[in-house]
Amino acid sequence: MKLSNNTILITGGTSGIGFEMVQQFYNLDNKLIVTSSNQHNLDKLKIQFPKIETIVCNLANFSSVLYFINECSTRYNDINIVINNAGIQHNYDWIEEKDGYKKIDDEIRINLISPFQIIYGLLPILISKKNSAIVNISSGLAFAPKKSAPIYCSTKAAVHNGTRALRYQLENTNIKVFEIIPPLVDTKMTTGRGQGKISTKQLVDEFLDNFKKDKLESSIDKVKILRIIQRLFPKLADKIMKNRG
Ligand SMILES: NC(=O)c1ccc[n+]([C@@H]2O[C@H](COP(=O)([O-])OP(=O)(O)OC[C@H]3O[C@@H](n4cnc5c(N)ncnc54)[C@H](OP(=O)(O)O)[C@@H]3O)[C@@H](O)[C@H]2O)c1
Repeated sequence: MKLSNNTILITGGTSGIGFEMVQQFYNLDNKLIVTSSNQHNLDKLKIQFPKIETIVCNLANFSSVLYFINECSTRYNDINIVINNAGIQHNYDWIEEKDGYKKIDDEIRINLISPFQIIYGLLPILISKKNSAIVNISSGLAFAPKKSAPIYCSTKAAVHNGTRALRYQLENTNIKVFEIIPPLVDTKMTTGRGQGKISTKQLVDEFLDNFKKDKLESSIDKVKILRIIQRLFPKLADKIMKNRG
């Protein structure tokens, strides 16, 4: 994929990995449409990057997602790259937790259902372009889960497998299906937990290097070794990841 002169939709561009994507793609002369659930965060982002377009969308809410897809289809039908970045992670003890129903629902909608609905809804636009791309973000936790976040780990395993299946479906089209598989990254999501985090810049630099070479699956940094361990010594991989922060 070329790194400039694209029209890119980025979900969750107001923070962390999404923010770094916005910054790097903006500086590479792309048109960006950025979404998050918070108008104030988007307004702040627009001050920093005046040429971006912003739309509020709560990915936990189906009506909001449908509205968002319709807006993109009518106002931005030049989109040729969709980056499904937004995500949340709840860490909790299932025996102690009092708000489990909502947490389970939100995590599955934001991390899994909405990204695939956005892809489905925007496929007519993507398929009409010469070179298009879908970029999904899973996690090293797709390969070995941690005990504190059963639903998060489930959604990321599903994103990984679903991305592969979608890649098969679209392999004879103009749409390339990419996946980023990050290790622990230093963002708002991981504040106060975990060790040995990489920076968002390191992640996005490594991804962009692969993206321009059309390398469809980016296992970032320590995830490369995790996947080798998982294949050769699955019980060891489980032990390493079980009590991760
Ligand atoms: N950080 C890591 O270690 C790590 C590792 C593996 C994978 N990942 C994945 O990488 C992606 C980005 O994570 P991050 O660490 O950069 O997280 P982050 O800093 O917490 O940013 C999350 C982004 O998602 C947006 N968002 C949250 N809830 C939303 C909702 N209901 N509707 C729309 N947007 C929403 C947030 O925007 P607003 O608050 O403005 O709505 C924010 O821009 C996620 O998919 C995550 O699972 C992260």
